[in-house]
Amino acid sequence: MDALTFLRADHESVLGMLQVLDGAPQGEGAHQSGLATMVTNLVIAESQHEAIEEQLFWPAVRAALDGGDDLADHAIAQEEAGKVLLQLLEDGNPGEPEYHRALAEFITVAREHIDYEENVVWPRFKAAVSTEDLGQLGDKLETAKKIAPTRPHPNAPSGELAQNTMGVAAQPSTMCATG
Ligand SMILES: [Fe+2]
Ligand SMILES: [Fe+2]
Repeated sequence: MDALTFLRADHESVLGMLQVLDGAPQGEGAHQSGLATMVTNLVIAESQHEAIEEQLFWPAVRAALDGGDDLADHAIAQEEAGKVLLQLLEDGNPGEPEYHRALAEFITVAREHIDYEENVVWPRFKAAVSTEDLGQLGDKLETAKKIAPTRPHPNAPSGELAQNTMGVAAQPSTMCATG
């Protein structure tokens, strides 16, 4: 299947979920609303989608396009921001104010991200690659999705990055040296 057709089907599915969640009840009664189940489905769909894009689509964009690195870097930064919010949803519960804040913010950033991919990246990518390449990439995406992770796995958890950050923080500051 054509890679962009495949990714668009994912986007349509996610956009549908976002539309339902956009009007989701907050506060008391949120537990009974089935909100947690809807959010779990969203987390699974988004986690799988972004994982296969990062595994296959962004490397293809980098390889095919002048300026592909900038496009991919921007999109991946959006994806990372989304994953942090999905992790908050994974860790939280309906009815908690921070849960609803994270959900509202995710709805906004996810729509922006999909818009960026479809309207900024895809037209350039489509113009740069052959129909055959699009088909082969689509097949790879389809196969990869079958075993893609269903959890967000943001790249800035408490582990390795935090240690690196602490390492940096422990270095003597040179910020004032040129002041
Ligand atoms: Fe994406
Ligand atoms: Fe996408």
